[in-house]
Order: sequence, then C-alpha cells, then structure tokens
Amino acid sequence: MNSFFHYQENSLFCEEKSIEEIATKVGTPFYIYSYSYIIQNIQQLKKAFSRYNPLICYSLKANPNITLCRIIASYGLGADIVSGGELYQALKAGFPSEKIVYSGVGKTPDEIKYALEKNILFFNVESEQELQEIKKIAEKLNKRAKVSIRINPDIDANTHHYITTGKKENKFGIPFPQAEKIYKEASKIPGIDTVGIHMHIGSQIKNVEPYLEALQRLKIFIDKLTRKGINLSYLDIGGGFGINYREKEEKFPIEELSEKIAPLVPPGMRLIIEPGRYIVGNAGALITKLIYKKSGKRKEFLIVDAGMNDLIRPSLYGAYHRIIPVKKSLKKYGKKVDIVGPICESTDFFAQNRQFPAIESGELIAILDAGAYGVSMSSNYNGRPRVAEVLVKNDNWWLIKQKESYWNLTQGQIVPTDINLYHREIMLPASPSSIEFWKMEGAGNDFILLDNRDEIIKKRAELAQKLCQRKKGIGADGLILIERAKQADFFMRIFNPDGSEAEMCGNGARCAARFAYLKGVAGEECTFQTLAGPIKARIKENKVKIKMSDPFDFKKEVKLRIDTREYTGYFINTGVPHFILFYESVDKVKIKETGFKIRSHKYFHPDGTNVDFVEIKDDGILIRTYERGVEDETLACGTGAVASAIISHLIYNLSPPVKVKMKGGSVNVWFESNEGSRISNVFLEGEANITYKGYLNGGDYV
Ligand code: LLP
Repeated sequence: MNSFFHYQENSLFCEEKSIEEIATKVGTPFYIYSYSYIIQNIQQLKKAFSRYNPLICYSLKANPNITLCRIIASYGLGADIVSGGELYQALKAGFPSEKIVYSGVGKTPDEIKYALEKNILFFNVESEQELQEIKKIAEKLNKRAKVSIRINPDIDANTHHYITTGKKENKFGIPFPQAEKIYKEASKIPGIDTVGIHMHIGSQIKNVEPYLEALQRLKIFIDKLTRKGINLSYLDIGGGFGINYREKEEKFPIEELSEKIAPLVPPGMRLIIEPGRYIVGNAGALITKLIYKKSGKRKEFLIVDAGMNDLIRPSLYGAYHRIIPVKKSLKKYGKKVDIVGPICESTDFFAQNRQFPAIESGELIAILDAGAYGVSMSSNYNGRPRVAEVLVKNDNWWLIKQKESYWNLTQGQIVPTDINLYHREIMLPASPSSIEFWKMEGAGNDFILLDNRDEIIKKRAELAQKLCQRKKGIGADGLILIERAKQADFFMRIFNPDGSEAEMCGNGARCAARFAYLKGVAGEECTFQTLAGPIKARIKENKVKIKMSDPFDFKKEVKLRIDTREYTGYFINTGVPHFILFYESVDKVKIKETGFKIRSHKYFHPDGTNVDFVEIKDDGILIRTYERGVEDETLACGTGAVASAIISHLIYNLSPPVKVKMKGGSVNVWFESNEGSRISNVFLEGEANITYKGYLNGGDYV
C-alpha cells in the first residue's frame, strides 16, 4: 500500500475519499485513480531525468482515458502512440502533435496519412516497407515526413516473455545491419527527414542493465552513422520502467538509469522516454464486490463481480496484483483462496492460492496497481459492459467514464434486412437495442424515417408525438415508418407531429423511397403502398421521381366573389383539391388571409381546398401555397406543385417538365397532355436529402 491508497479507521481510502462511499454511488466493479499519485510519478520522472531536458512521451496504451491524458498533457508531456485511434485520443486529450511519436509494426496507409496531416514529431519506422509507404504518402500529400528507425538491439529485458520486445525473435524494430542500410537510403529520399533513433526493449523491466546494454549498442551505431554524415536529433529509449506489484518490491530505479546512461546519450541529441505503466500503474485500482463464497474439493473460491474481461493481466501473463479488502478484516481465512470472476474460463482469476482475510458476500475488494493495462485491455467478453472509471483528488471525486450499459453490447451491430429471418419457425422479438433512424428533408419538409418492417415500433402515434417535438425530441414535420406490404415493396406510413396518421405526402414519399432504396428494401424503381393508394418511384442519387395519381375534376375560370373582390381561378384535384390563382408577383400576396377566405368559400363546401398562388417565371413557375388543415402557408406542397404546373400548362401552355420553385425548394413536374385537357402519367421529381443518421435508445421507445 502507499499513501494514496490507505486505510482510515479500517476503511480503504483513495487519497481523502472513502472507496466504500464512492462504490455506493457508482456500483461495482469500477476503476479508481489517484490524481495526486499520477502527478507524483510524473514529478519523479521529470526530476530523475532533468539533466537531459527530455521529452517524456506518455504511452497511451497504458491507459488512454481522456481525463487522465489531459492531466498528463497539462504537465507538458508528449504522447507515444501505436495507432490512428491513439493519435485521435491523444489529440482529443490535448497532447500537442509536435510532441507525439508513433511506433508500431503495422501502420496502415490511412494511419500514416492521418499522422502526416497532423504533423506529429516523428514515426518510429519498423520496416523497410513501412518507410517506402511513408515516403509515398508524404509525396502525395506534399509533406515532409520525419522518421526515426526503431532498432531491435537483440537484448533480453528479463521480463515476461510476452512483453519482451527487443530480442531478435521479436517482431519489433530492425536489426543494426538492415537499419544502417535504411538510414542511408532514407537520408537520400527527398521529403524524408531522418531525425532520430528508437528502441523499446520491453515492459515491466526491473533493472537498468538491459537498457545500458542496448544503449551501448545503439551508441556505437549512432557514432557510425555520424561518421557517415547522418546526424540525428532524437534518442528515444522507449518505456518499460517497471513498478512494484508486490509489497516489498522496488519500483524501477529511474535515477540510476538516468545517471548511468549519461555517457551513452550523445551530446546534441534530445532524450525521449516513453513511460506508460510508471505513470499510471500504481495510481489505479479495480474495485470489485464479493458475490459468493464457494468451497471446491480442493479449493475455496471467492467469486467477485469483476472478471478477466475487466483486468486480464493475471490471466494473460500470470501477473500478480495485490488484493486487499476495502473494509479491513482482522480475521484470517483458514485455507488459501482463489479470487475468481464470473467468466466462463478457468483462467478467469485475479489470485490463486492466496491467503486472504475473511470477508462476507457483499463486501468490497480492491485489486491494486491496476491503473496501467487494466481498462485499456478490457473487453465485453461474456456480454459484460465495460466498467466505470473514477478519479479522486484529495476529497473530491469525479466519474470520468460511465459504466457501459447493455445497450452498448449491441451498439453498431446491423441485422441485414435482406437475410429474411421472418419465415423461420419462431417469431423473433423486436430488435433489442439501437434502432437506427435517418433524418431526411425534401423541399423544406423534414422527416424522421425508421425501418419498421419487424414492427419494432408498435406505439406509432406516441412515437411520432415524442420524436417530432422540436425541443424535446428530434424535431420533424412527420415520422415515416417503412413497413411490410403484401403487394408492393413496402408500406409507407406517415404520422403528423400530433400523432394523427396522414394519407400521403409528396415530399415525405420521396424521402421514403430513397430511404427504402438505400436500405436495400426496394430497388431503384419501386412501388409502395400508402393510405392514399400505391405510389411508383424512381430514385437517382438524391433525386426521386414519384408517380402521382392522374388529376381530375379540372374546372376552368371559376369566379368567386368574396367581399367586394372577384377572384378568377382554376380548380383541379391532384389527390387533394387545389385552387390556382395567377399573379404578376406572388411576393406581396397576403397568403394566409386570402387563402383562408377562398378555402372557406361555399363553392368548396364541405371539403374546402388548398390554394396556390402562382407567378409565371422565365424558367418555370414560382408558387406559394395555403394548406387547409395547416390553415397557413407552408414551405412546399407536392400536390400543389403538380396542380400549379398542370394548370400553367393548360392555361399558359408551359411545356413539361415544369420547374416549380417553392420557398422550401424546387421540384420538377412531368406529365403527358392528351386531348380534351386530359392529363396522365404525372411525375413529381425533387430532392430527398439525408441530414443525419442516429440511433434511438430502444428501451425508451419500444
Ligand atoms: N513504447 C512502446 C513502443 C511500447 O510498445 C510500450 C509498451 C511503451 C512505450 C510503454 O511501456 P511501459 O512503460 O508501459 O512498460 N500489456 C502488458 C504491457 C505491454 C506493453 C506494450 N508496450 C502488461 O499488462 O504488462
């Protein structure tokens, strides 16, 4: 134990905070970190190596928690990364890109590109091919790439063989003879700057000798390069400084290393170290609860609620972690115990044959020294959400990572809609978690679209009311559900924000068709059912053409007297009734007032009508529409666009396709004009745009 994890009146504290108290708020298991311990470790490193003014690059893989990284970055440290993901995490945490070094044997072209674009300090190149790839990508981006070569010095770091990285049988780094060749080659490549040399011989190293041996070899090599005119600016000796996992063990002697490497660090080269474990390892613990006690034939088992998925080190490396009860118990267990998790693997243990004080089910246990390679190596194995993380500073504490929920376990998974699970022997339950929705827009009407062919959504009206709200939901003019249809590709059901079901909507229908096409529900040409009858659609990129029903009931020059004015207009039904009025300019027309008067005229009783105010332009028409039901002007109206285009053709001879501009956007109207003012084959074409995609939390909505 140490001064950061200590007992106060027989109860374990992290700094000045009771761990029991946190556990009642957060629930077990969880990781807990001591802020002050991390800082102490950083200060010790800085002090020990101060003579070099080194760049200390924290190795993110030890623990990439963004709060911890931000704290570390705030002390001026850089970052050691091994993937594009870690670069992303490092940048998010605030590590300056000019303090980031990038190692790893398998950097992909995308990752290299990302790192070049972000101008990191340098790549630790691990193969000849990788250098060529970096060169190629840098050329393409017109950037200079700074590289250092990772040497494999063939040194045994005397640590667990799984975490030894500097022996010749390891995949890491490049042996000296090859490295020399690569340095020579690289120094001739325009666009590549060879700025450093790197080694990382392993992790959890306990003494300085392997470093000294390796560095002696590096020194000879660096001198050779210097003689050949290759001058390097950085000497990166990697990380690997071990910590004490047992009570009487010593931490890695950093002062001794700093002192002894002095003759091996060439003047003029900046020292870089890449510690991970040393900074966060001892500063974290995994808190878990005893669930059951059980006696096997030979053993006593303490079964806790954390598993190897949360901390894999004991299972993977046989690593030893100190384990203590959170409430100090003075009683001793008679027999030695195995402390095990709930996972279905015999390697799911945290301790074996360990003397452990007697504790009861429900009591808490702390697995110490779990700050490094704990959470970063955790998984969802056995359907276990990853645990929460907590940070303590003095008597303050913060939840810095939420416990995952069951929802996370299926998040991102896609059940393909075309694998057709519906004819099997059993009715499958509704998809349990994330329900994908798309937000789409057509000519200024916005919709939420969901694939509801599994009937995941049953409370359709309620869902529409919830989701369409602008502030408390997603916000939309309507909810569109794609459902199964007997004689069509799908059924479009559209609900208004008040929960009522609409028969049809031109703008919504376009969105539905494109959604269904992109989801693989229907083809480029499809037919779908609506409450207003079947609709045919053709999708081409973001443009969707839908076939409208043939118009009927055309009435020429209808004269309406309202108050003192006479209005002459044209009536047509394009699925819904429309009355068309032509104006020189529709700009100044009082749409709401005039529209209301007209729709209320007894001529249209009892159904009323929509009213379209139309202005003929050079390239088509401009319309403004008063919609009955809404009882106001709307941004766009599909059936109104069709009605206005057809009447403009019949009266002013505009030929199809007629471009119709509305406040919310433009559409094109196609049709065939036959004898006797008979119009057929009407198509409305307009955009259906995807604004964004997201997920609904299934639990809340199904
Ligand atoms: N630099 C490079 C290039 C590395 O590969 C590593 C760790 C470090 C620095 C940081 O090493 P550290 O100072 O943390 O020892 N999962 C194992 C440890 C794997 C270490 C991998 N490389 C464990 O739990 O013991």
